[in-house]
Amino acid sequence: MSNAQAPNADLTGPAYWMPFTANRRFRQSPRLLERAEGMYYYDVDGRQVLDAVAGLWCCNAGHARPKIVEAIQKQAAKLDYAPSFQMGHPLAFELAERLAELAPSGLNRVFFTNSGSESVDTALKIALAYHRACGEGQRSRLIGREKGYHGVGFGGISVGGIVHNRKHFGPLLPGVDHLPHTLDLDRNAFSQGLPAHGAELADALEALCQLHDPSTIAAVIIEPISGSAGVILPPVGYLQRIREICSRHGILLIFDEVITGFGRIGSAFAAQQFGVVPDMITSAKGLTNGCVPMGAVLINEAIQDAFMHGPEGMIELFHGYTYSGHPLAAAAGLAALDVYQEERLFAVADRLSPDWQRAAHALHGLPHVIDIRNYGLIAAIQLEPRPGQSGQRAFEVFERMFREAGILVRVTGDIIALSPPLIIEPSQIDQIFAALADTIRATR
Ligand SMILES: Cc1ncc(COP(=O)(O)O)c(C=O)c1O
Repeated sequence: MSNAQAPNADLTGPAYWMPFTANRRFRQSPRLLERAEGMYYYDVDGRQVLDAVAGLWCCNAGHARPKIVEAIQKQAAKLDYAPSFQMGHPLAFELAERLAELAPSGLNRVFFTNSGSESVDTALKIALAYHRACGEGQRSRLIGREKGYHGVGFGGISVGGIVHNRKHFGPLLPGVDHLPHTLDLDRNAFSQGLPAHGAELADALEALCQLHDPSTIAAVIIEPISGSAGVILPPVGYLQRIREICSRHGILLIFDEVITGFGRIGSAFAAQQFGVVPDMITSAKGLTNGCVPMGAVLINEAIQDAFMHGPEGMIELFHGYTYSGHPLAAAAGLAALDVYQEERLFAVADRLSPDWQRAAHALHGLPHVIDIRNYGLIAAIQLEPRPGQSGQRAFEVFERMFREAGILVRVTGDIIALSPPLIIEPSQIDQIFAALADTIRATR
């Protein structure tokens, strides 16, 4: 694309190996953000960029919110760090209580991590250790799903189902199997909200139970809505069926809510929106509004209870991170929850979703658009790949949106994904989709 931004190349030296980035192409034509406020980023040239993805699905209350900034600043001056092994500090306890109040009923135990990936690995380990604590140590199999994204730890990529994230890294965890994904363009393309067809795909779990014997399966992990593989929605009735099969066979159900948590689809968690309560929820991102890295696993109290036997002086779970419950992250988390609550942001996605859906589906019929998917304040526009150039067309749309329209969207394969901060105005919804329509029309 344009070399107009090449002067920024001197800001992008070779030392920084950028994650999930085409490093060489990036350096030829960098995209550098310098500051942010509310719905907007500002790049190093001072250009305003409307944020249509909440950073990376995390800044749900928008950027640089004064209450959160102040909480972090104050906390850094007061207690910069406290160890969390055999020691504690009040904010971590307070945040855990606040999260337990927000969580679906029963999920009132909280284990802190620093990211979604760590939350996933933590939940998988707790599942295995739980069954062992219950005298069912033979339950060692983990079930994920094709196209699932559960971060980049070895546990997460093993249960994950995105081929590029797996194929370079050896044999991964043993004893893992996968359910089929639920993306079905033949039957469900251009569905508005949840797709009607595909609940029966949950029965593949019953088949895996018959193949392996359910007594060998520890847990199933799925994203209620998967984001990273390009917004894949659960068909009506699918999650309920997965829940029923897990319960029937004593298998723990983990919802990975790293992107659906904290108001993205109209409730604190997707579990509440869909009326399906898992045994654990993995979260991160919106937990601190993206300001300080932090993740949390919300755990059914019955699971924790199973560990609370044996001598009282014994460590119950041999797991944790130097930065679990970090004071700055806990302060950011508490302030973020205050902002979400004061501004009633968890209700926004429900309120705005009719406008959002209408604006997204207005792109139906544009050249190369083969599917549009939406739920809450999430949308995906799937483009037909150019022959032999998978992902190129959508990448060009992403670049043009950034450089020409001043709007940040997300590209994953041939899919443009959108997940704006929950403080978005209706006029900004129109602006995003109008610019996207123009850009798609202009991209061959
Ligand atoms: C569903 C899901 N799980 C896990 C992760 C990993 O989170 P992190 O990048 O914080 O490790 C992500 C990140 O996008 C995600 O979408």
